[in-house]
Amino acid sequence: MNKNLLFLTLPFALTLGSTFPERKPMVEPAPLKDSFKGKFRIGAAVSTATLRGQEAGVEPIVRRHFDSVTAENAMKPDAMQPREGQFTFDDADKLVAMATETGAEVVGHTLVWHSQTPGWFFEGKDGQPLSRDVALARMRAHIKTVVGRYKGRVKEWDVVNEAINDGPGVLRDTPWRKAIGDDYIAEAFRAAHEADPSAILVYNDYNIELDYKRPKALELLKKLLDQKVPVHAVGIQSHWRIENPPLAEAEKAIQEFSALGLKVMITELDMGVLPSRYQGADISVTEGMTPEQVAVMNPYTKALPDEIDQKHAEKMASAFELFLRYRKVIGRVTLWGVHDGGSWLNNFPVRGRTDYPLLFDRSLKPKPAFFAVQKAAGS
Ligand code: G3I
Repeated sequence: MNKNLLFLTLPFALTLGSTFPERKPMVEPAPLKDSFKGKFRIGAAVSTATLRGQEAGVEPIVRRHFDSVTAENAMKPDAMQPREGQFTFDDADKLVAMATETGAEVVGHTLVWHSQTPGWFFEGKDGQPLSRDVALARMRAHIKTVVGRYKGRVKEWDVVNEAINDGPGVLRDTPWRKAIGDDYIAEAFRAAHEADPSAILVYNDYNIELDYKRPKALELLKKLLDQKVPVHAVGIQSHWRIENPPLAEAEKAIQEFSALGLKVMITELDMGVLPSRYQGADISVTEGMTPEQVAVMNPYTKALPDEIDQKHAEKMASAFELFLRYRKVIGRVTLWGVHDGGSWLNNFPVRGRTDYPLLFDRSLKPKPAFFAVQKAAGS
């Protein structure tokens, strides 16, 4: 009998009496959040599909294993206020309700970003940039309404996401910056603090652990702190691969950011196993694959070879050993997704691939990386 069928029929058969040899039910691993209790919160990004009950089996994993939850997409500007004055809170409300039941902390992701933000926020009817005053008023209104609605229930906000430029200069030339000016970042943090003075306010970005971008992040954060802007933490997204970046760069970033007096949050950890020419998360960098490239760039469409699975587990464990060494300054570590099948990396930087970056596999079973991370927590 096909073993999958056996797996499916076994529980049913057991309820019909023992037509099958007695087998121990699959033992669920201990909750990951218990392993990290007293060290830092362990979180996951929760997809909108999960919040809408369209991904059976994922929500129980989130409830059991994670004491921090981030909406992968449901709390971004395009989801929260698609048209001016028209707010849609249903999906975010579901996340907050779930977290209230499980005692998890909610991370609001994200208030001000150049991506997934409808053009009306910073463009006039004629498509021209809005005046500073109007754009500032719209940004403040969004923040006041959204942060205000969840005051005291969403403990942490990724206030500004990915404002630093990968190319020359410190700041990315985003529509927000064009419409308001460089101080849009400070103004966003001030508005969020006004709306919920108890919330932990995070500056979130990718690759700021890397030598080329870390100095710019330090410069921006020092400037904000000198201006007494209420920024409390820095989010290192940590979209990594088993090949890079070297953890030594991440360690330097944790040391240097925490030396500013900021909490460090590992906000979007995943560990891709596929080859890629690009390191980072600039969503505009996407590419297709020629047939010749498929075999090289997408080699594990059927299954992941054990040795790669083990390598992934070792790298994940090394990353968590680093985080645990700095648990006094790290507030949380969030995995950017629950299971491999839902990872954004299946479509980035190359669309239509099969990657294996997370702790649960496509059948929602814990992977070797899950157990390696749990073991590291116990060490
Ligand atoms: O909602 C639409 C749906 O209506 C449509 O049918 C479908 C097909 O095009 O697209 C859906 O929107 C997608 C959205 O996720 C919701 O699923 C967008 O196309 C897709 O681009 C979007 O991707 C998200 C990406 O941010 C967008 O920038 C990923 O799920 C999400 O994991 C990723 O997360 C970001 C963080 O927010 C910030 N840091 C980088 C990280 C990776 O880019």
